[in-house]
Amino acid sequence: MKDNCQREITYLRLSVTDLCNLRCRYCMPAEGVAKKQHSEICSVKELVEMAAAAADCGVTKVRLTGGEPLVRRGIVDICRGVAALPGVREVDMTTNGILLPELARPLREAGLHRLNVSLDTLRPDRYAHMTRLGRLEDALAGLRAAVDAGFTGTKLNVVLMAGCNDDEIEDFVALTAEYPLEVRFIELMPMGQADAGVYLPGDTVLERCRSLVPAEPSGVARRWRLPGGKGLVGLIEPMSHRFCGSCDRIRITADGRLKPCLHSSQEIILRGLHGEELRQAIRDGIAAKPERHHMAEEGRSQTARNMNEIGG
Ligand code: GTP
Ligand code: 5AD
Ligand code: SF4
Repeated sequence: MKDNCQREITYLRLSVTDLCNLRCRYCMPAEGVAKKQHSEICSVKELVEMAAAAADCGVTKVRLTGGEPLVRRGIVDICRGVAALPGVREVDMTTNGILLPELARPLREAGLHRLNVSLDTLRPDRYAHMTRLGRLEDALAGLRAAVDAGFTGTKLNVVLMAGCNDDEIEDFVALTAEYPLEVRFIELMPMGQADAGVYLPGDTVLERCRSLVPAEPSGVARRWRLPGGKGLVGLIEPMSHRFCGSCDRIRITADGRLKPCLHSSQEIILRGLHGEELRQAIRDGIAAKPERHHMAEEGRSQTARNMNEIGG
């Protein structure tokens, strides 16, 4: 269905947990987050029921996010349940990839279509520093496992941060010469733990890599390619090139709240609702979706949540 700004809403981002096996500095506090009571988080059945209701309201694509979706018990069942819903044409996931060696195959068998893997550096020492807990070799093993399990169209998400990883822009772009990967540079959004001081505009990538030539945009990303390259380079620029006018998405958090916009404090409690009541709450949320975010004017996101509770 359309929202009040005439945007067709077809994409649900479903957060299945707020927990993560890494502690990326821009996303999670060092000590992690307090584990919620079991009862505070939606069960597999509830999450699938909410996705089904969203599909009844016009959603055709569902992305499973977190926290880290692969640490959620029952993730394969969630995937299978959502993929089997009438109306859902595509189920994707955004993950740090660490657990893909065990889970890539079962997820593919459960009907997962595509993966976006978050990887902010290609240097082992930096990866350990930026994620506080992670090993680069585990993330790379995850990427390899995705290929071996038959996933195609995998995208790498790189959050641009001045003085942290901007000296690797050329290295990431060079990957697309050889591999059929889409590397997407994302502008850091000022929310939760993120240090707005290290923000870099997406245009930095174009200034550093003059040989890139324009390609078709896709979703929220403007895209380029290296001449003769196998892959693509994307820029996701919520700050410098706001894309709210073509936003097609809603979000549901692991505790069962509908967020019509990533950056708004508006939330609608879905938990406890069923059938027509649940569908009506989702329709109301879609109708009331804010026109755009106000990070430029306010300097901060208006959401009260940390990124690990929304999943991007
Ligand atoms: P595709 O289906 O492959 O196009 O994935 P996607 O870009 O929709 O999802 P992904 O989880 O890979 O998100 C990439 C980046 O875009 C993350 O940093 C998200 O936080 C950000 N992002 C995704 N959707 C929105 C949105 O609606 N608004 C804003 N401001 N940022 C978003
Ligand atoms: N700004 C931009 N992207 C972010 N992500 C997490 N926090 C932020 C932020 N503050 C990215 C992750 C992941 C995706 C879901 O969102 O790196 O790729
Ligand atoms: Fe959509 Fe809100 Fe993101 Fe803008 S900030 S693209 S309206 S979710």
